[in-house]
Amino acid sequence: LNNGLATTPQMGWNSWNFFACDINEKVIKETADALVATGLAKLGYDYVNIDDCWAELVRDFKGQLVPNKKTFPSGIKALADYVHSKGLKLGIYSDAGAFTCQHQPGSIFHESDDAKLFASWGLDYLKYDNCFNLGIPPKERYPPMRDALNATGRSIFYSLCEWGVDDPALWAGTVGNSWRTTDDINDSWASMTTIADLNDKWAAYAGPGGWNDPDMLEVGNGGMTYKEYRAHFSIWALMKAPLLIGCDVRNITSETLEILSNEEVIAVNQDRLGVQGRKVYAYGPDNSSQVWAGPLSGQRLAVVLWNRGSKASSITVKWDVLGLESSISVSVRDLWKKEYVSENSRASFSARVDAHSSEMYIFTPSKTYSSS
Ligand code: DGJ
Repeated sequence: LNNGLATTPQMGWNSWNFFACDINEKVIKETADALVATGLAKLGYDYVNIDDCWAELVRDFKGQLVPNKKTFPSGIKALADYVHSKGLKLGIYSDAGAFTCQHQPGSIFHESDDAKLFASWGLDYLKYDNCFNLGIPPKERYPPMRDALNATGRSIFYSLCEWGVDDPALWAGTVGNSWRTTDDINDSWASMTTIADLNDKWAAYAGPGGWNDPDMLEVGNGGMTYKEYRAHFSIWALMKAPLLIGCDVRNITSETLEILSNEEVIAVNQDRLGVQGRKVYAYGPDNSSQVWAGPLSGQRLAVVLWNRGSKASSITVKWDVLGLESSISVSVRDLWKKEYVSENSRASFSARVDAHSSEMYIFTPSKTYSSS
């Protein structure tokens, strides 16, 4: 969507994956504080996004949405002021249907009123869900909120959460700043890998202004190992996915913080070229040895060697699958070791990759190449 936002994928935090409906203004404020205290804010995680469950079950007598009086007693405007005072942005959630998934009022047929209210509260981001959608196709339900947000004159990031229904990559580029390509992620290796494969199909449609959204990060929520979370984060970064943290940042572990704070991996995600990396090669038993790659600015390439299998193995990437001539020499930087591991690899590069793990690199060819 050409609204000046999302020139690179959005970064920040969202309440749903860890807190679900157990949210309140204290949690949101403390999370904003924690994003600053951990240094995550400085690395670019600047959206603090409230998901479902912030509103009263009925609109007021004027038909307006009302923040839950028990959990958000100070109201959303005060919260936005607080979050802004920390140098961060505040996001909210509604639904392109009669109710949200947790039975709070939806915004269909209230788009203009709700957009005006969100703008008056100083909000910066809207995630727009797909429950109780009255059987109306997403293509018809999502544009009215785009127009309503636009009419407010406030810059509000518009995140479509239509769960991949009706192949949004094909139509959402002019509707939203990101669109979900799949159902909800859960905190497991099986879910994460499945979602990565589904999202990969739509790589060609992502770019500055509009990104494929394979759902929010589960890093730090406990259902995967350290190496599995590292693979999750690496592949989301390479796929130019939104980097929305989904754990409790107030109680983050040093391992989780280390993963989410890898500046070189973040830089791949935020590269100005904005091309989604894809699965370019897979081989071995069950195709478990995989090469995912994509171009970066400055004629560089981001490469992930991903072992989807349950045994450690050596994974090789040959130059031809990257569109490089075999004669070209490449310097290879390992983004997790944070060091150059090869100065002039020729024709191919191999590395041992643990089970359920990945390694991530930037390849810098020594002379200009033509990508295929
Ligand atoms: C479904 C969405 O896909 C989730 O991300 C979350 O927003 C829930 N609804 C909230 O009810």
